[in-house]
This record gives sequence, structure tokens and C-alpha cells, in this order.
Amino acid sequence: MFNEEMRFAVPIRWAMVGGGRGSEIGHAHRAGAQRDGLLQLVAGAFDIDPQRCRDFGTRLGLAGERCYADYASMFSQEAARADGIQAVSIATPNATHYAISKAALEAGLHVICEKPVTFTADEAQDLQRTARAANRIFGVMYGYAGFPMLHQAREMIRRGDLGAVRVINMQFAHGFHNTGIERHSAGAQWRMNPAVSGPSFVLGDLGTHTWFLAGMLTGLEVERLCCMRQSFVKSRTPLEDNAHVMLQFKNGAVGTLWASAINAGSMHQQKIRIVGEKASIEWWDEHPNQLRYEVQGQPAQVLERGMGYLYNEVPGVSANRIGGGHAEGFFESWANLYHRFALAMAAADCGDQATLDGLWYPDIGAGLEGVRLLECCVESADNGACWVDW
Ligand SMILES: NC(=O)c1ccc[n+]([C@@H]2O[C@H](COP(=O)([O-])OP(=O)(O)OC[C@H]3O[C@@H](n4cnc5c(N)ncnc54)[C@H](O)[C@@H]3O)[C@@H](O)[C@H]2O)c1
Repeated sequence: MFNEEMRFAVPIRWAMVGGGRGSEIGHAHRAGAQRDGLLQLVAGAFDIDPQRCRDFGTRLGLAGERCYADYASMFSQEAARADGIQAVSIATPNATHYAISKAALEAGLHVICEKPVTFTADEAQDLQRTARAANRIFGVMYGYAGFPMLHQAREMIRRGDLGAVRVINMQFAHGFHNTGIERHSAGAQWRMNPAVSGPSFVLGDLGTHTWFLAGMLTGLEVERLCCMRQSFVKSRTPLEDNAHVMLQFKNGAVGTLWASAINAGSMHQQKIRIVGEKASIEWWDEHPNQLRYEVQGQPAQVLERGMGYLYNEVPGVSANRIGGGHAEGFFESWANLYHRFALAMAAADCGDQATLDGLWYPDIGAGLEGVRLLECCVESADNGACWVDW
């Protein structure tokens, strides 16, 4: 059970780019990062509007001079301070991720970036090389990956409880954009604009999450895929508000991914079902403390977080924060990930390779795989749903 004993003597000095007042995801970063006292927000370039950034930042308790008009000023002015920032999270619209991440790494900062991490795989590879060369941690915010029951699922697959994996069904299909809400929602508007969102909408916004979970759980590598995408709200073309992907994996397994924002009536419907030779598991993000385990020929079981019959997850970081039966949720998942990011940053700073090697977290390699998914899907869909090699 996590009980706050792993605090550093002094928290890592941390900043944000984006995530300002009214943003969708800024609060999740601040709540997750600061939950365990390992990171402390000391500066920010939170907003495209400098005055709103300063007003917001000071109301978060920051000194006015550390609320910056833009990220470049923040990186240069913080570098000149003895107590300057050591890490930054980037929670801006997609088009800006590459330039801001690159500048942050070049300023010597550890980086946590939102997904999709870049527009192209070449850009993601460049960030991977830059982070490696600078010995900086690069985490990608696949925020669902911190749920303990997913780590139980990963361990069950690793131990062979399902037998060899045959089928992976992935879906992230909500209904919040079943009409043209972008006409009056700024956060929806940029997502429909290819210049800001990138080459896809729902595949990048939603599909990359579940895609990451499939790789995290099974470790399977894709061989080829084919994708069909369309916009039911026509003004969104060329971006898609609905997509179906069929996948073949190198071990012979197959899979499907449904990403949609027009699944009318659905709240989230992010589900992953993994079918093995002898049993299947299924996880649903609306009930994240449970994992269905179905052994052929036996009654289905619902495994519950925090119970003694589960496997212990990743050594060194116990992710349970309260006993079974209580509901842990989205913010706990983010805190679990930020906890790992912070431990990795500290290990990198003191050259502790053994700790780094034993510490799992979604890194820039995972970000790169998500961007590759988008590139392959767009190539396939825009060429008549042809099969594309990974
Ligand atoms: N991991 C997740 O679960 C999750 C959930 C939602 C959004 N996201 C991702 O987070 C990112 C932001 O999404 P959002 O929904 O919060 O967007 P949003 O439009 O709600 O908020 C964006 C924020 O960034 C600020 N901003 C824009 N450009 C900036 C710049 N150049 N410098 C500084 N600040 C700038 C805006 O003023 C705003 O405060 C996107 O990449 C999105 O895909 C991830």
C-alpha cells in the first residue's frame, strides 16, 4: 500500500506549458504530479494569453515573475536562476508538442508531454534521440496506464494465465461529438483542424490511448493493419470522427480498434478485451477497479483492486492508495504515473541506471509507436482501406 514514505528530501522543481484556466487537462497534470510531493509546481507558461497566464498562475500560488508569456522565455529565464525548473509538462494542443519538447530538452529539462506526442514519426524519433543524448527522461501522458488493475492484467498475460494471446479488441468510443459542437467549443474546434490536431482526430485523441494499453499488456508487435475512417459530421473532413482498424500481429494474433467520438449515448466506452488460448480478460475505464477474468468452461470472475489474490505489481512502486472496495480513479492513475516519472528523473539525475532499468513508465518510445499507428492508419484509410505494413 502506498503511504507517502517515498518522498524526496526536496521535490523536483516542475513547470507546465499549457493547461491554463479552462483547459481540459491542465488540472489532471497538476493534481497527478503534486499528489505525492515528488514534484512541485514553481513556474508556468500556462496560456496562449500572457495576462490570463499570470492571473491564473498567481492564483495557483506562483510568484508573478514565474508566470511567463511564452515557453521560450520561461526556459531561458528559469535556466538563469539557481532555483530554476528541472522538469516541464506540456499540455498544449498537438501542433506545438514537438517544438516545445525539443526546446525543453535542449534547455536540460526532463519532459512529460501529452499525446499524440508529435505529428510525424520522424519528429518523435528526433525527440527520442535528443532525450537520450541529453540523459533526460521523456514521459508521455497515456494517463490510463497508471490503473493498478491494468498492471494485474499485464502480469497475468506475462505469467501465461490466458495462454498465448489470439485476439485483442480495443475500443475508445464516446458520444460527446455526435453533433458539430466545435461551433461553440474552443477545445473541440482545434481538434477538428488538421493544422493544429495533426493528421487524425479520434485515432490520435482516443485510439492512441487504448493502443498503448494493448502494447503495454501484451508486448505484441504489429505486422500490418488496415483502417477505414470517416466523418459523420461532414465539416470535419478530412479528419475522422469515427474509425475502425484491423490489425495482424507478428505472433499470429489479430485485433481490432474502434475509435469514435460519435457513439451517441456512450460516456467513454474505453474497453480492452484480450483473448488467449484458454482464458480472456476485459477492462473498462468506467469501472477501472475491476478486471473480468473468464476461463473457458468456468464461471466468469471479477477481480477487484487491492485484494490479496492479485499479483504484486511493479516492484518499488505500490500503486494502491487505499484498500479494496474503495473506488480509486483517474487522478490516482495519473498520480501513479507521475510518481514513476519523478523516480525516473531522480535516477537519471544521479546516474542510477539500475533503478532506471527496473522502472516502467510510458516513454518517448511509446509516444513514437502511437504516432506510427496514426501514420499507418491514415495511409491505409486514405488509400481505400488497403493493408499497410507496420
Ligand atoms: N492524456 C489524456 O487523457 C488527455 C486528455 C485530454 C487532452 N489531452 C491532450 O492534452 C493536450 C491539451 O488538450 P486540452 O484538451 O487540455 O486542450 P485545451 O484547448 O482545453 O487547452 C489548451 C491549453 O493550452 C494553452 N496553450 C495553447 N497554446 C499554447 C502555447 N503555445 N503556449 C502555452 N500555452 C498554450 C491554452 O491557452 C489552454 O490553456 C492535447 O495534446 C490533447 O490531446 C490528453
